[in-house]
Amino acid sequence: MADHDKLNEVWTNILGNSIKFSKDSGMINVSIKQDIKNVTIRISDNGIGISPEDQKRIFERFFKADRSHSAKYGGSGMGLAIVKQIVSLHQGDIRVESEPGGGTTFIITLPIRTPTD
Ligand SMILES: Nc1ncnc2c1ncn2[C@@H]1O[C@H](COP(=O)(O)OP(=O)(O)OP(=O)(O)O)[C@@H](O)[C@H]1O
Ligand SMILES: [Mg+2]
Repeated sequence: MADHDKLNEVWTNILGNSIKFSKDSGMINVSIKQDIKNVTIRISDNGIGISPEDQKRIFERFFKADRSHSAKYGGSGMGLAIVKQIVSLHQGDIRVESEPGGGTTFIITLPIRTPTD
């Protein structure tokens, strides 16, 4: 049980970032895994990556990593703040793994809930 439109916003934002911060020949990988309790979605790219310092702040409102490049990429820095809020509303969790120049993976875990829960 989940909010279809809101989760759509989550995937659109994260995939949009993956495309925006990758080269034309980049690769994006999406996988989904399910156990009894949770669904885990991983979205990986091999784009520009995010420094460890910036990884701590990307879920803040209006935060954009690497200011010198931000004019080139556009956007308001709100996407991931909204994503995090939507994931929280679903009692889920989101985290990032990234290496500058080596790409970025977002891992989202959502609890499986049925209407009888
Ligand atoms: N896949 C990614 N690869 C590299 N950097 C990323 C990636 N996703 C997010 N970031 C960094 O995190 C920042 C925040 O992302 P967020 O989606 O919140 O903002 P935005 O994409 O800049 O703007 P908006 O989503 O409001 O259009 C980005 O500006 C970028 O610096
Ligand atoms: Mg974005």
